[in-house]
Amino acid sequence: MDKILGTFNGVEFTVGGTLLELSYLVAALLFVVGLKLLSHPESARRGNFYAGAGMVLAMLTTILLHKNADGGGIQPANVWIILAAIGVGSAIGWIIARKVKMTAMPQLVSFYNATGGAASALVALLEFPNADMSNWGSVLVTLLGLIIGAIAFSGSMVAYGKLDGKVNDIRAGYLSYINLILLAGTLALALFILLSGQTPTELNWAIYLLLAVSLLYGVLFVMPIGGADMPVVISLLNSFTGIAAAMAGFIYNNQAMILGGILVGAAGSILTLLMCKAMNRSLLNVIIGAFGGGDAATQGEQGTMKEITMSDASVLLAYSRNVVIIPGYGLAVAQAQHVCHELDELLVSKGVNVRYAIHPVAGRMPGHMNVLLAEADVPYDQLVEMADINPDMPSTDVCIVIGANDVVNPAAINDPSSPIAGMPIIKAHESKNIIVMKRGRGKGYAGIENSLFFDDKTRLLFGDAKSTLQKLVNEIKDL
Ligand code: TAP
Repeated sequence: MDKILGTFNGVEFTVGGTLLELSYLVAALLFVVGLKLLSHPESARRGNFYAGAGMVLAMLTTILLHKNADGGGIQPANVWIILAAIGVGSAIGWIIARKVKMTAMPQLVSFYNATGGAASALVALLEFPNADMSNWGSVLVTLLGLIIGAIAFSGSMVAYGKLDGKVNDIRAGYLSYINLILLAGTLALALFILLSGQTPTELNWAIYLLLAVSLLYGVLFVMPIGGADMPVVISLLNSFTGIAAAMAGFIYNNQAMILGGILVGAAGSILTLLMCKAMNRSLLNVIIGAFGGGDAATQGEQGTMKEITMSDASVLLAYSRNVVIIPGYGLAVAQAQHVCHELDELLVSKGVNVRYAIHPVAGRMPGHMNVLLAEADVPYDQLVEMADINPDMPSTDVCIVIGANDVVNPAAINDPSSPIAGMPIIKAHESKNIIVMKRGRGKGYAGIENSLFFDDKTRLLFGDAKSTLQKLVNEIKDL
């Protein structure tokens, strides 16, 4: 038996139990510090390490010090199974993390998120037969863990498939109604289980039906969402997984799981709200799946795109005072971040004030441009948020749009019928000159035409961003 330290209000405190709770407190602190450090690119790596260390600590102390209701520890055979599962999971995670391309990161996040949701739903499903039906609180957290975990799992799998190009959008108006019916059905079933007064065995059918309806809701709620709205859904599903994990923590009365889950849930919810704001979508619309990328690319062409020669572009840039670089998804595809930094250093050496305008949803994942430019050692103080740089646009001599499209599309401001109407954009069209680098007439993620490319002030440099930038750098060096 574990040595008893003392009693308080009739509760016995053992050495092992106290150490376990203390380790959870330390793990929670590591999670919080880790999250804080993740908020800046310079400290993000350390933040990831601290949060990971907290997780390892919580897992190890649980394996070593957890006591069952009968006072015994985890069975040795189970300890081996747990360690084997952790070993296999870590190895797979490590291999995937090393292999995955930066541009495929959102899919990976979705996939990992799905596994988190599945784990929480499974905990709830396995623990339901042991539930004390007279204890409403404990039954409620079990049901919520099941519902939210299942929705996070199936929704994230669909999001993964869509981002990976394996699943297409289904945009039917009636889906919103089906979703509302499914949501109402889920809640009604949960209430029935809670209030029926039957035993878990009698309610076996209901719990599996609840699982099936929740899984279906997850699929149908993500299915119609497409175009520019996907990031909101991914971060919403991420917060769902956190909440489901917290519910699983309540089932086991495990402080580390509760805290970890709440932190993920809160961080995901805050990110969701910030994304909604950045893309001008209401959260209610996200939940009932009533919006989408809209009719992609129904507009016709809007005139001719006027090209600029390399030498004209180099002169224009080298003799400017203020230049703003607007990076987008194409910069990531071309892996042109290093040569882009070379261009900005070259211009700075010629006395040009060069800054980068960062749109919160440029690229394909939150912070995509920050990560990319950090990889190329672009100083952080050169990166300016959209809201801070927009007022400077009219006094900007040249904007260089590199593989960005939706995030500089004036239709978001000018065309209320556009699928991206209301989305805040970087106002490149207000600057004195615009140079756009893209390969051809390709559209952006939302699949719509962009009038900026046909603007009188805009000149195109066609080609892959990396080679175009390299040619431009060489040209400026020769000036
Ligand atoms: P997009 O609107 O996707 O436009 C990318 C542009 O890059 C295209 O016009 C494409 O034109 C060009 N391009 C592609 N490969 C290129 C290459 N190798 N060299 C040069 N140009 C290249 O990008 P954005 O402006 O960054 O906007 C992001 C969009 O994705 C938004 O709609 C956003 O809502 C959505 N989204 C964002 C996230 C997050 S969280 N960031 C997640 C999912 C979706 P060409 O084909 O003609 O070259």
